[in-house]
Amino acid sequence: MSTGDLDQLAHFPQSNGKQPWRARVVTLYPEMFPGPLAVSVVGSALEAGLWSIEAIDLRAYGTGRHRTVDDHPAGGGAGMVLRCDVVAEAIDAARKDEPALPIVYASPRGEPLTQRLAAEWAAGAGLIVVAGRFEGVDQRVIEARGLREVSIGDYVLSGGELAAFVMFDACVRLLPGVIGSSASLAEESFCNGLLEYPQYTRPREWEGRTLPDVLLSGDHKRIAEWRRAESERLTRERRPDLLARHGR
Ligand code: ADE
Repeated sequence: MSTGDLDQLAHFPQSNGKQPWRARVVTLYPEMFPGPLAVSVVGSALEAGLWSIEAIDLRAYGTGRHRTVDDHPAGGGAGMVLRCDVVAEAIDAARKDEPALPIVYASPRGEPLTQRLAAEWAAGAGLIVVAGRFEGVDQRVIEARGLREVSIGDYVLSGGELAAFVMFDACVRLLPGVIGSSASLAEESFCNGLLEYPQYTRPREWEGRTLPDVLLSGDHKRIAEWRRAESERLTRERRPDLLARHGR
């Protein structure tokens, strides 16, 4: 898929038009949601019904009087592992009415989250994220339910919930009507495989620093060329891996 195709997907995502985009998370901490997703543009979109969020409480599927969800790792070792039967039941409940929703297991072991992946999810009906805790989930449920493992970066969080916030936010802001101008989406970092150029606003001079002259020139062609050159310079300096990935 080309970047142009992705732009199309990101700006005209919903196939059914009316249904809100569905975010679902399987978690031991349902009270964390919607949390930070209730504020700003993403929060307004939630209130407006452009998307919905549902937290499926893993504890409700636990076994026995104590609703146990975890057990010791087979073969020994530190920590606890979420049981496959418990996680599977919660997943099955999460996708009961929506068997085709993509389903992700948030894990530092997964493939990296990218703008491309977020655009693909935003173009669909929604996303289910399984948020692990402890030492993770029993491998068998990952295989049996076809969970796609996705990481938000090369560091380890205490659970997958923060990763779920990141994934939902990255998707929801791409839904039509969530961010006022589709031009700002088209120009931002990663959209064209480059980091975004530096932004400036008033005052014209601040602490001895002036605005770059070109931005005051009114010459839109020159401004666009300058921005492009700045994007390329920043990407070359900070993220040469992005240039390599886009064959530049
Ligand atoms: N859970 C713990 N660490 C994580 C990470 N880096 N990405 C996604 N899920 C995680």
